[in-house]
Amino acid sequence: VIVGARATTSPDFLLVDIPGTSGRLDVLLRCLRAALLVSHGLRRDTCVYLVLLGSSDQPRTVRVDGSAAKYLRPDERSLATLLQKVLRVSCDGDGWVEARPGVTMARGGLEVALTHAGGQPVLLDESGEDIRSMKLHEDVTFVVGGHQGLDAISLEYLQHAGAQRMSIGPVSVHADDAVTIVSNELDRRLIV
Ligand SMILES: C[S@@+](CC[C@H](N)C(=O)[O-])C[C@H]1O[C@@H](n2cnc3c(N)ncnc32)[C@H](O)[C@@H]1O
Repeated sequence: VIVGARATTSPDFLLVDIPGTSGRLDVLLRCLRAALLVSHGLRRDTCVYLVLLGSSDQPRTVRVDGSAAKYLRPDERSLATLLQKVLRVSCDGDGWVEARPGVTMARGGLEVALTHAGGQPVLLDESGEDIRSMKLHEDVTFVVGGHQGLDAISLEYLQHAGAQRMSIGPVSVHADDAVTIVSNELDRRLIV
């Protein structure tokens, strides 16, 4: 789950200036790529939730399911174009609306994402427990902040939900690099 505290829910951002016109959706798109795309394929066992909180009265969550997604390309511009198409789809009712193959969207923010994902929430946090010594539940949902980290309301919600905190190392890295490091750690633990 990637939380974009300022990420827009409007499709009217400029592809030639994604960072400057979208509330840093570029950070979320790089996280999406890092979480889902591998060399010559997709992680079919992974789902990514992009939580867009930038239009504060109407947060949206976009879910990309690696088992069903099609035509995902690794470059940021293609992913931004996909997200623009998704954000043009009407999402006024309750529940998840399918916007593209394997890509759905719902009203609401972090609570909606965590409820749908299930699993033990684990917040990536520089001051958390070291990933190398941390024992993880079998069913885990990782939560990562955007370029400004987590907003206060999301942090409070995670605390209330009993989220564990996990550090990937002593240096605060870019969010997509954090995702890559966690994926690599899981690969090392799970693929023999
Ligand atoms: C660029 S960092 C944001 C750092 C920013 N200084 C802040 O106010 O949180 C984006 C996200 O990457 C994750 N992250 C970055 N470095 C990390 C580390 N060493 N351990 C755990 N998570 C990290 C955190 O989830 C963080 O919210």
